[in-house]
Amino acid sequence: MKVVVCKDYNEMSKIGANIIITEMLKKDVFKIGLATGSTPKKMYEYLIEAYENKVISFKNVLSVNLDEYVGIDFNDNNSYHKFMFDNLFNHVDINKENIFIPTPKENELEKSVEEYNRILDKIGKRNLQVLGMGNNGHIAFNEPSNKLNLRTSVVNLKKETIEANSRFFESEEEVPTKAMSMGIADATNADVILVMASGKGKHYAVKKLINTEVVDLEFPASVLKLKENVILLVDKEAYSGE
Ligand code: F6R
Repeated sequence: MKVVVCKDYNEMSKIGANIIITEMLKKDVFKIGLATGSTPKKMYEYLIEAYENKVISFKNVLSVNLDEYVGIDFNDNNSYHKFMFDNLFNHVDINKENIFIPTPKENELEKSVEEYNRILDKIGKRNLQVLGMGNNGHIAFNEPSNKLNLRTSVVNLKKETIEANSRFFESEEEVPTKAMSMGIADATNADVILVMASGKGKHYAVKKLINTEVVDLEFPASVLKLKENVILLVDKEAYSGE
């Protein structure tokens, strides 16, 4: 795992975007896995800027997202569908047919999961996967547990994740308690894995990921230690805790 410590969130976002752009320019068709949340937001702005400056095009980009809340309208401000369109897809020339986001239909959850796994099987290994990390070490919504899902599943969010994500909602009660998430095998099925973490709140997870010498299911990000070509991109605050 290569660790890159950046001076701040802005620098981290710029470097992250440059890593993606470099990989994108190598391929005729680029398959990318994307994350939501506050961490990659600014990086998406830099990708949009690169598109506007005609450095990159998304015409031949195929994108798959990690997760979506269960029980939230896809037009709701907190839905990950809306997040992706607002923060990236509406601003670039991606073909809407090449966008895949978990779509949990409340009365057909099992079918929704099967469908997404079928899509992932069809797409296969991505060229690059962007991952954020929860304060508790979750990647996608694979929460600390005594077992980790390999494939897409409907998962219960942990109390600490609900608390952390309540910053986007009016109250903690409004945060969905379930999500549909790629499993660990799918979330890490990529040639390059770009893990990003920013701010003091991520210090515990960053330190643990760097130092862990075991795969610890109570710390899901530790599975990244089994993977080659992982880049951990952090800002100083997340790295030092100060
Ligand atoms: C989001 C996702 C989550 C987040 C993580 C960090 O698609 O899969 O694992 O990456 O919860 O969220 P932020 O970036 O908001 O701190």
